[in-house]
Amino acid sequence: MTLANKRILLGVTGSIAAYKSAELARRLREAGAEVQVVMTRGGAEFITPLTLQALSGRPVFLHHLDAETEAAMGHISLARWADLVLIAPASADFLARLAQGRADDLLATLCLACDGPLAVAPAMNRQMWAQASTQDNMRLLRERGVHVFGPGSGDQACGENGPGRMLEPREIAEQSAALFDSGLLQGRRVLISAGPTREDIDAVRYISNRSSGKMGFAIAQAAVEAGARVTLVAGPVALQAPERVRRIDVRSAAEMREAVLGRMEGQDIFIAAAAVADYRVARPAAGKVKKQARLILELERNPDILRAVTALPVPPFTVGFAAETENVAAYARAKLRDKALDMIVANEVGRHDRGFDSDDNELLVLWKGGEKSLPLGPKGRLARELITLIAERYGAKDTA
Ligand code: C5P
Repeated sequence: MTLANKRILLGVTGSIAAYKSAELARRLREAGAEVQVVMTRGGAEFITPLTLQALSGRPVFLHHLDAETEAAMGHISLARWADLVLIAPASADFLARLAQGRADDLLATLCLACDGPLAVAPAMNRQMWAQASTQDNMRLLRERGVHVFGPGSGDQACGENGPGRMLEPREIAEQSAALFDSGLLQGRRVLISAGPTREDIDAVRYISNRSSGKMGFAIAQAAVEAGARVTLVAGPVALQAPERVRRIDVRSAAEMREAVLGRMEGQDIFIAAAAVADYRVARPAAGKVKKQARLILELERNPDILRAVTALPVPPFTVGFAAETENVAAYARAKLRDKALDMIVANEVGRHDRGFDSDDNELLVLWKGGEKSLPLGPKGRLARELITLIAERYGAKDTA
């Protein structure tokens, strides 16, 4: 089970099971997630914010929409920040408010403002759970796509026995992780290039670019979660490879080309997210070049890896990237045709809040006969949306 790089907004509402939220926060973090706790007034009566702050490693937000909370992170950005909003425990009262679409405290407002997955782990007395009003609310929530974890059955804090117990933190963490495992690329082999390349000038200097590799690594993670067997050919980056990914580290464009082409056989999909240096130094010096008044470097073009892949007798489904500072859509569409790609992912670079080296991005995905824009958001979420699109287009091509 992994929740690597996932951001989970953990809502804690008024139920005796709130004491288990402390262990849940710890387990989610152990599985690799970042956890932001938001408590309702009722939740804070059962467990202290300080406990949850210590275990989540972040200051806890409380029930009201106050200036301080808004200044730290507005409720809309908080809802956008989350890859998953998980309410555990979810009390009967909170479920009723959720079903009604209320916005009468911070957590309820966040749920209204969130467009990503929302999961609830109900916890209440068995009679309250069996009540027609609660069951109606649950039906409504399920119909709207809310994921419901549990409840379990057994001894209850009130001394009764029956359904209504919150699931154990371990089970909630596992079910949360399972939400991200889409199975859309089950058994497919996907090769991804990521990061920059370094082109040596001499023994100590090189030419490179500002690519951090974050987008490519997030795509590798999303592809693994979709069930693919992923090979990641990475230029020099300061990132950890996602679990279950085969990583091959390279340095220069020439090394990347060799690594990619050498492993292309049997691949179903190639995603070229790397920012390959366009030029390399024609004659890199073996030692360190001495300082001089003026140094002239002769650069020669690096071979285009992507073109080499689409020129193969049986190319895989190929996805290229286009980083542009202007006319993003037009340049990208031209590149789609010119490089004979199945799909191209365009993004605007040179802006501080997105693209290269940023945690956020905004993408425009184009293919023959269609396009879709993926609005500004965390790279992890965009990567999952992109993998969903790739799986759709790949499936369409397969059956064409
Ligand atoms: O032509 P341009 O460099 O803008 O194309 C970008 C796309 O081509 C990216 O997907 C990048 O990974 C790929 N590329 C490549 N080999 C190169 C240059 C770019 O695979 N030498």
